[in-house]
Amino acid sequence: MTKTSLHIPVLLEHVLKIFYRNERQIFLDLTFGAGGHTKGLLNQNENCIVYALDRDQNAVELAHNLAKEYPKRLFPFHGQFSQLKNIFKNKENYFDGILLDAGTSSMQLNDPQRGFSFRHDGPLDMRMNSKSKSVTAYDLVNKLDETALSRIIRLYGEDKRHRKIARCIYQWRSTFGPILTTTQLANVIKVGLGGNASDVDKLNRPIHPATKTFQALRIVVNDELNELYNGLELAYTLLKPGGTLLCISFHSLEDRIIKRHFQGIVLHPDEFSSNLDETSLRNQAEKQIRYNIQTKHIIQADDNELDENPKSRSAKLRYGIKL
Ligand SMILES: C[S@@+](CC[C@H](N)C(=O)[O-])C[C@H]1O[C@@H](n2cnc3c(N)ncnc32)[C@H](O)[C@@H]1O
Repeated sequence: MTKTSLHIPVLLEHVLKIFYRNERQIFLDLTFGAGGHTKGLLNQNENCIVYALDRDQNAVELAHNLAKEYPKRLFPFHGQFSQLKNIFKNKENYFDGILLDAGTSSMQLNDPQRGFSFRHDGPLDMRMNSKSKSVTAYDLVNKLDETALSRIIRLYGEDKRHRKIARCIYQWRSTFGPILTTTQLANVIKVGLGGNASDVDKLNRPIHPATKTFQALRIVVNDELNELYNGLELAYTLLKPGGTLLCISFHSLEDRIIKRHFQGIVLHPDEFSSNLDETSLRNQAEKQIRYNIQTKHIIQADDNELDENPKSRSAKLRYGIKL
């Protein structure tokens, strides 16, 4: 099994159907990952071209390899959403379709050295770009004070037990020294919560009590919500009028930002997680309509896809056409 075969693109059939046109199109895949969606687009219409971005050097290497199979049709770029303006300097109103499939790839999650998951023991890293000088999960877990940790877990993990979790992390490291690995952190949290494994996901399956804390750390390490917010704003300028923006998200914080972007609501980063009153949001939306929203109801995986790829259970697809 190759590294790339480990990542199954989510909602692929929907993505291809939504982008399908019987004419030449230029796409921007903002999240190349293992290239599943890009490859689908390239195969679906032999006249289309894909510009592919990823902040993870490993993903970009895969894109360069794939580009050899599609001469002059796939153009890989290494960078992150917030750098889009510099990367695509002269490409305003240029793309017919832009795809953003948020979050982490299975390649990132399944590589213990990347430190994203407690399913494998690895260093507490979680940087999507391992060469970046940004903070790591180790820095957050071992250097933040209890209040800051608690705040992160509340805001970005939306875990009600944020105080208790922050306290047990803080107490552990004060007594025994730094927490070094993913499984060590997961165990500290589990034991701190009294060995409570009673959390369940939307399908009522048990989930590890450290799941939301891991999500929170990953979001902060990669500045994911600011990246998403800025990425959407910049993607808007790169998209042609009449072009399609399609976004897939995996948790409510991402989905909220995407939904509000389509509604034309401009938010300050501090407001991402606050409960803004819906009436004032709707009023603002009326002033800045930029898309014809095509998904009154979000698109989600059907039973067949859920069977094949359990990760697709939390995927939500929204798309709109630039006015
Ligand atoms: C869910 S995966 C994409 C999978 C891909 N659609 C496929 O079919 O293989 C998300 C990818 O987006 C990348 N990514 C996440 N945030 C990013 C950002 N701000 N800028 C650029 N790439 C980002 C991650 O490194 C990861 O490779």
